[in-house]
Amino acid sequence: MDEGLKNLVDRIECGDMSSYDDIPRLLACEDTDTAQYLFERADAVKRARFGDEILTRAIVEFSNHCRCLCAYCGISACNEGIARYRMTREEILASAREALDQGYHTVILQSGEDLFYTKEMIGGIVRDIKAMGREYPFPVAVTLSVGERDYETYRYWRQCGADRYLIKHETSDEALYNRYHPHSSLEKRLQCQKWLYELGYELGGGFMVGLPGQTYETLKNDILLLKTMKVSMAGIGPYISHHATPLAGSPHGSPELTRRVLAVARLILPQVHLPSTTALNLKGGKEAALSGGANVVMNKVTPLKYRALYDLYEP
Ligand code: 5AD
Repeated sequence: MDEGLKNLVDRIECGDMSSYDDIPRLLACEDTDTAQYLFERADAVKRARFGDEILTRAIVEFSNHCRCLCAYCGISACNEGIARYRMTREEILASAREALDQGYHTVILQSGEDLFYTKEMIGGIVRDIKAMGREYPFPVAVTLSVGERDYETYRYWRQCGADRYLIKHETSDEALYNRYHPHSSLEKRLQCQKWLYELGYELGGGFMVGLPGQTYETLKNDILLLKTMKVSMAGIGPYISHHATPLAGSPHGSPELTRRVLAVARLILPQVHLPSTTALNLKGGKEAALSGGANVVMNKVTPLKYRALYDLYEP
């Protein structure tokens, strides 16, 4: 084993900030024993904080309409080749009910950025699920993941009972962010995260690993940005290239590198919830992630007839 890198893992775990500059070296290293040591330490840190418990969350993907132009995403507004769907309020509540009946304590409502669902509609659905939750013998949390809206809307949804909000920074490289999100900017994205934190949401952030143009240095900054933004949860998943996007044909992000990034994130953010993301599960990386620092699994409970249409990335 490379003793220098092993020592680096120990220093990162101890919170020695001067070690962070060397994170790219650790992510890039070819020594599998060192990587194994990193996973073992991440697993130990996770167990010290969360024990053996793996938390599960239910996701309802209630609409694949999207106004955004994210260059990597299969449901972006520029993809005219897919069938679009919207679930009704009743369908969304039925999916939430099913999730709670199955024993899930958290329902995540996720969609493209679809302004068809007004502030009042989403607020009403949140209220209904929170009320439904009171019929169960456990506390029920509602997480929203519906993209960028204004401060007033976020405030209203919080008032309606939304507990958490998921909105990833996707990449901390500003030039890359702005290139892949021509409709928005990194500044705006981070503003949304700040508002949500200030409003008392538990903030979920995250980013993709292997996005074309990203470097190991970017990934280090991605991990540190999670800390700056005070996230409670971070979804870190591999980039998966999709044929109907401007980035078609680019290589997929590596599940192994994703696992290393997750493990380093666990060392730096011991108290943060780290899911094995659906993108990583798709690539068969779930078990490895859970033995290397991840402590949450997200499962889709979207009705089967809609599930294949929520095609952000293809299998
Ligand atoms: N590969 C991996 N993740 C993707 N997402 C969107 N498109 C892709 C892709 N091609 C992720 C983004 C977004 C979440 C809803 O899905 O991180 O935040």
